[in-house]
Amino acid sequence: MVMLLTGGAGYIGSHTALVLLEAGYEVVVYDNLSNASRESLRRVERLTGRTLTFIEADIRDTARLQKALTDHAVDAVIHFAGLKAVGESTEKPLAYYENNVGGTLSLCEAMTAAGVHTLVFSSSATVYAASDDMPLAETAPTGRPTNPYGSSKLMIEWILRDLQAAQPDWSIAILRYFNPAGAHDSGEIGEDPNGIPNNLLPYVSQVAIGRLPQLSVYGSDYPTPDGTGVRDYIHVMDLAEGHLKAADAIWGQPGVYTWNLGAGTGHSVLDAVRAFERVSGREVPYRIVDRRPGDLAQCWANPQKAETDLNWRCRRSLDDIMADAWRWQSQNPEGYGRD
Ligand SMILES: NC(=O)c1ccc[n+]([C@@H]2O[C@H](COP(=O)([O-])OP(=O)(O)OC[C@H]3O[C@@H](n4cnc5c(N)ncnc54)[C@H](O)[C@@H]3O)[C@@H](O)[C@H]2O)c1
Repeated sequence: MVMLLTGGAGYIGSHTALVLLEAGYEVVVYDNLSNASRESLRRVERLTGRTLTFIEADIRDTARLQKALTDHAVDAVIHFAGLKAVGESTEKPLAYYENNVGGTLSLCEAMTAAGVHTLVFSSSATVYAASDDMPLAETAPTGRPTNPYGSSKLMIEWILRDLQAAQPDWSIAILRYFNPAGAHDSGEIGEDPNGIPNNLLPYVSQVAIGRLPQLSVYGSDYPTPDGTGVRDYIHVMDLAEGHLKAADAIWGQPGVYTWNLGAGTGHSVLDAVRAFERVSGREVPYRIVDRRPGDLAQCWANPQKAETDLNWRCRRSLDDIMADAWRWQSQNPEGYGRD
């Protein structure tokens, strides 16, 4: 079976490529390298002892994408490509809608033209309405996201539902990720953000390695046990395995399926920092700063539906996440380097 991964050179895509290759799939990565390095894929090939096809191109180039789908006889697409920096999205809303929403329209057109009707989409827990009622099941109401990034994810969900209603032979999985973190346990591939990281784990590990002076903890007056935000951290390898299970489950089963991919447990920022310090043996200096606009007090998943439907659940712990994130960071203090 041939899987095309848009954005497959990025953080979650490269880990998923590895899992798919190990499971015997053929993998085509289609990525414009706007936020990734070719090196991630070289390492995936080295780790798996298998080769993949890499196409450096943009998903908004519909004709190129259609050609890739046809040339490689692609069976299904996993759609990771997108811009993901929440703060930047409020400064550049048009770029986010153009890339994320426009790019997805282009992908769906190319897939229609190529006769490929199986799609797994990277959505996010950010589509849920703010709520005090945790954990969040897939039936929880979606909200009005507080930033263009979140809005783009929700809009894409709507577009995919409309598409499947109009063309019922499509099989679509919408995967709502909670907080992906960690790295492959080899320390060879991991998260390599540009600039100051938006996500907690790369921020913490860059402080621990001395690339950044201290961690900013956004808010300590939330109504949570220690006042800092509570999130559901999911190991990126568990997340990658979830894609494999979702793609298998929807194959030949037309419909739209929504699954939360989360661990089902909430940890505060300070819990996460302490776990990192314990596992790495490094101190992480931090200071409390103002809340970030749009951040929620708490957010964690009810992952029961994925367990029931996909026989999937997180197997790795918070300490595994920290140990693997630290191994990746300490072996690659400057990430991949961009090439
Ligand atoms: N990391 C998270 O915390 C998180 C949480 C929820 C959802 N997601 C979603 O998961 C997906 C993957 O996230 P990630 O963390 O691996 O991000 P990432 O930035 O590492 O990967 C995205 C990849 O898409 C590529 N890309 C972007 N625009 C493109 C375009 N127009 N054409 C071709 N390639 C393009 C980038 O070069 C990059 O390799 C994204 O859609 C993101 O919104 C991520």
